[in-house]
Amino acid sequence: MSAIDDFRVSGLEFPAGFTFGAATAAYQIEGAATEDGRGPSIWDTFSQTPGKVENGDTGDVAIDFYHRVEEDLDLIKSLGLSAYRLSIAWPRIIPAGLGEVNEAGLAFYEKVVDGLLVRGIEPVVTLYHWDLPQPLEDRGGWTVRETSYAFAEYARVVGERLGDRVAVWTTLNEPWCSAYLGYGSGDHAPGRRSEAASLQAVHHLNLAHGLALIELRKVVTRPDARYSVTNNLAMAYAADPANPEDVDAKRQIEALQNRAFTDPQLRGFYPQDLLTDTKHITDWSFVHDGDLELINQPIDIVGINYYCTGTVRRGPEHSTEGTAYPGATRVESVEQPGPHTDMGWNIAPQGLYDLLVATHEAYPEYEIMVTENGAAYGDQPVEEDGGKRVHDTERVDFLLRHFVAAHRAIEAGVPLTGYFVWSLMDNFEWAFGYTKRFGIVYVDYETQERTKKDSALWYTKLAETGVIPEA
Ligand code: FCB
Repeated sequence: MSAIDDFRVSGLEFPAGFTFGAATAAYQIEGAATEDGRGPSIWDTFSQTPGKVENGDTGDVAIDFYHRVEEDLDLIKSLGLSAYRLSIAWPRIIPAGLGEVNEAGLAFYEKVVDGLLVRGIEPVVTLYHWDLPQPLEDRGGWTVRETSYAFAEYARVVGERLGDRVAVWTTLNEPWCSAYLGYGSGDHAPGRRSEAASLQAVHHLNLAHGLALIELRKVVTRPDARYSVTNNLAMAYAADPANPEDVDAKRQIEALQNRAFTDPQLRGFYPQDLLTDTKHITDWSFVHDGDLELINQPIDIVGINYYCTGTVRRGPEHSTEGTAYPGATRVESVEQPGPHTDMGWNIAPQGLYDLLVATHEAYPEYEIMVTENGAAYGDQPVEEDGGKRVHDTERVDFLLRHFVAAHRAIEAGVPLTGYFVWSLMDNFEWAFGYTKRFGIVYVDYETQERTKKDSALWYTKLAETGVIPEA
């Protein structure tokens, strides 16, 4: 924690050209799950399986973005944002995962991208935000190589259609979640619980990333288009930094969550300690000769999603089958001090600062963007002066402190060029359904009415002036 001011200062100015954006993902907002030829994804199957998602919520309707594109793009415009990070639903483009291309899907995203450009907002497009076509999961999902090649083909199809317009291409969102929550702990779709499967998924996601970049570069024509990947890197601390065992626990978590992705993606190798830590689970023979060269394609921007910190120590031996940390049999998490958000995540702007600095130190040649940061709170709209207001003072405070942390990272030399608040609007929060509100815009799920929260008004001032406003 900063001894000086707790990151609560206003008046700091971001460099000219800094990107202030907001982020969403297809399954969380679109709805229209069976319209215009969209095929089922693993999240449709998972959310329709009793007991997987709170209240049995699904993305069938979500916040109906599919039918509200124009008004929602107007909303982004009215917030003064210069970029919007969206994801494309693979099952809308290639409904069976392989084979036939669905023209209606391409037309939909073309409408979104054109609608952004016409309003002067740069489209930042993520190709995979967790909605794997179900037919591919039926063939093995991310545990098999075929899925990586299918992804590359999908990337090519999208790149051919939108490659003259998209500003930033992001291959994957948080492959850590796709691999370890999807195939290890089973908390996310497809809900499998196998340590070996989760490590196979790590590799095939990395391979998909590299293969997709190769295809994109063949077809993208926008001269200033840039390429990126978004990882949710852990900001892990050792419970006792003077205790080598705790420091080793931290090393192990960083290998699994961070370097398992960034080293192959940005450096072209898997960390030796990761292979050693997991050798009782797999011999990694699913990594074929030449794969690492394929994965290690040049990119321009390292995207980081940051929400909270973790602290670990050496603990007693325990099984890690069915967890998100394969092989970390002697790592124990320490409860993080509060305050916490509605997700139970601790609020730690210092963690964002530390993570940005550490990432820059490890991979100094890359530009960095915060592709997600934000907070869930139990917002309640109130009637005031004949209109609706949402006084989300905690979220304003959260954003203020994290933007100050980002600003300090820039001052410390981190080439941070953009920041996307999660999320533009309240939406389907995966296994939590609609119970967690992350939006800076409130959504009434009965009427689909959108109402800017105080945080949206605060963020607009920041985006329009580049200067951190008072909370
Ligand atoms: C991230 C996801 C995003 C959202 C936030 C709260 O892990 O990328 O879709 O759910 O968490």
